[in-house]
Amino acid sequence: MVDLKSQYQQIKKEVDLGIQDVIDSCAFINGPTVKQFQEDLEKYLQVKHVIPCANGTDALQVSMMALGLKPGDEVITTSFTFIATAEVIALLKLTPVLVDADPETFNIDPKAIERAITSKTRAIVPVHLFGQTAPMEEIMEIAKKHNLYVIEDNCQAIGSDYSFKDEIRKKAGTIGHIGCTSFFPSKNLGCYGDGGAIFTNDDELARQMRVVVNHGMTIRYYHDYIGVNSRLDSIQAAILKVKLSHLDEYAAKRRNAADFYDKAFGNHPKLKIPARYSKSTHVFHQYTLVTRDLDRKELISHLTAKEIPAMIYYPVPLHMQKAYLDPRYKPGDFPVTEYLSESVFSLPMHTELETEQLIYITESVLEFINR
Ligand SMILES: Cc1ncc(COP(=O)(O)O)c(C=O)c1O
Repeated sequence: MVDLKSQYQQIKKEVDLGIQDVIDSCAFINGPTVKQFQEDLEKYLQVKHVIPCANGTDALQVSMMALGLKPGDEVITTSFTFIATAEVIALLKLTPVLVDADPETFNIDPKAIERAITSKTRAIVPVHLFGQTAPMEEIMEIAKKHNLYVIEDNCQAIGSDYSFKDEIRKKAGTIGHIGCTSFFPSKNLGCYGDGGAIFTNDDELARQMRVVVNHGMTIRYYHDYIGVNSRLDSIQAAILKVKLSHLDEYAAKRRNAADFYDKAFGNHPKLKIPARYSKSTHVFHQYTLVTRDLDRKELISHLTAKEIPAMIYYPVPLHMQKAYLDPRYKPGDFPVTEYLSESVFSLPMHTELETEQLIYITESVLEFINR
């Protein structure tokens, strides 16, 4: 689905130099490289604070810990996402409250959020799925009205811009009280191992999150809070520093590939191309199509036989995952999510897709559906 090898070849010199510098300095943990990357990312996102951490899942967990959410507090999120979003809610013994997705953008439906709010609701976690920002203006209005926190799960949409009615533009992840991202290798800004970061414009929340990621420690060996050990290591920061300088160029390459796919599949009655939401730029973490009246399993086997990877993100909605079965929910409760889980598939999407490869992929898909 991604071609990290070819991408590395393009930036090898800069990356190797960065890694060698860290090894020469032996400042492997909390070294100056981490601070430099943090500052570069703050500048890129136009956000006051970036708190690097070990992965995107930790970023979500640390956010919820820093907000002081307590067992039994309800956290609203989408039923159509990667498990990590709900996992941390469950781990902290908070109550995940799921709501359905919008069939066009695949993102959380704000009307469904409003209907799910109770006296126990404390936070909303919109996920900017597949590279497009969720409807943040509506979500922030709901949050304000009901006095709720908003934690953006921005693991899939770093670099995406969101436009408000008054034409103010903000980067995904910097609109809510807290934004979280993952630097997993295949992410749009991925390192060569695990990594993550948390963003906020709130000084007090930033201070609290810096304490939580460092064992709840305020002064060395004095632990005022229960925290975690969640650090971005210096070698990963050196890689990310290089890749951040290419992020917008990478997004443009992904958009070009998406345009190619759109043209090939746009008019086909059996495929629905991903909708482009007017308020957000799309950074195409995934290129995800909805199939109509098509045997998806056979299509994927056909592509696999031709050495074309194709994936289903996500085959099982959260409320139907074995570990998350809950008497509050049953199949049929989230019809859009369930429909999407049964009908979507994603094609290779990365920065190194050549025209020849795009032709081969699109022709192979069309060959199967036009049989
Ligand atoms: C939407 C979403 N949330 C959270 C995560 C968790 O990130 P990580 O794998 O870095 O823990 C991911 C990435 O896999 C993701 O896609």
